[in-house]
Amino acid sequence: MDQPNQHFVVDTHPGIVPAEQRTALLANPGFGKVFTDHMAIVRYSQDRGWHDARITARAPIPLDPASAVLHYAQEIFEGLKAYRAEDGGAVLFRPGENASRFRLSAERMAMPAVPEEMFVEACRLVTTTDRAWIPDSPDGSLYLRPFMFANEVFLGVKPSSEYLFLVIASPVGAYFKGGASAVSIWVSDEYVRAAPGGTGAAKYGGNYAASLKAQAEATENGCDQVVFLDAVERRWIDELGGMNVFFVFEDGSLLTPPLGGSILPGITRDSLITLARDAGRTVREEPYAIDQWAADAASGRLREAFACGTAAVITPIGTVKRRDGAFKIADGEAGPVATSLRQQLVDIQRAKAPDPHGWVQRL
Ligand code: PLP
Ligand code: COI
Repeated sequence: MDQPNQHFVVDTHPGIVPAEQRTALLANPGFGKVFTDHMAIVRYSQDRGWHDARITARAPIPLDPASAVLHYAQEIFEGLKAYRAEDGGAVLFRPGENASRFRLSAERMAMPAVPEEMFVEACRLVTTTDRAWIPDSPDGSLYLRPFMFANEVFLGVKPSSEYLFLVIASPVGAYFKGGASAVSIWVSDEYVRAAPGGTGAAKYGGNYAASLKAQAEATENGCDQVVFLDAVERRWIDELGGMNVFFVFEDGSLLTPPLGGSILPGITRDSLITLARDAGRTVREEPYAIDQWAADAASGRLREAFACGTAAVITPIGTVKRRDGAFKIADGEAGPVATSLRQQLVDIQRAKAPDPHGWVQRL
């Protein structure tokens, strides 16, 4: 029963938020606080497969208190952005990659596959229906949040037989308050995010719940973000709470931790590896130890470090703090490689530069 009815019924009722209010909200949307007027919603049941696909007014979803997700957290999500192109049109960046990662997350969490065409169609329709909500500021974009959760009313521990797939949209500005300026990172030595064989490679809500305590510790220690070490040796850099990480060395080469199953295979990570290699740089996907990071920063061999992800784009790392002290990366400011890769990526994403890899989908 995996042949879905992919035909969305589009209920474009007049927007809920009046135009003037929308303009005011778009002036300073922050991150993830403002939402558009519509959403996509599709139901799944074991006997009917995916059905009842609709684009409809964004509204609360009634949930029975025994809905499986509320007890056993069977929930996955994605994050991708739509941009306003210079010609006024809208573009999506690599939505097929999000669709395929969503399928892998679903498989890991024993959930049904959302057909990739249905995933992309839902994202396209939400974007075009709420096109007026795409900010046109240089840092602004429409963040799309596809997600799926278990809604069978049943308390047994087993994969749910019913699910909802939704796409909501939120106009956003920069993820960090300081925009693209350097952030400080706390090294989590007590908490880990993901272990081999666990759920770290899935974009699964529970991974983020498990990161909150470590993020709170980062904040208590005056840092913007937390970096997690591997669960076995507590030695190798994995990734940040919601971003992958890159290191830039004095010879111009880059290094990023390998996809070993405990980090999220970031689409920004993949795009940056490609762009850096296109520019003739060496990019190694290799483990990097926290003590090596400190030593390379001290010797000057390490010139830059930066975090990357859909929400954060590229965010330079200026300072790293551990329980026994802190170290700075170079002068603690954004470096030239991070700055130039960010500009290249953003120009492709906003359809301002040639797109040799066919990453941008025009709507
Ligand atoms: N790592 C984690 C844990 C994330 O939540 C994200 C954000 O989606 C990323 C990495 C970066 O992934 P992407 O570049 O696909 O947004
Ligand atoms: C994203 O970049 O899309 C994420 O999901 C990260 C999250 C911390 C907002």
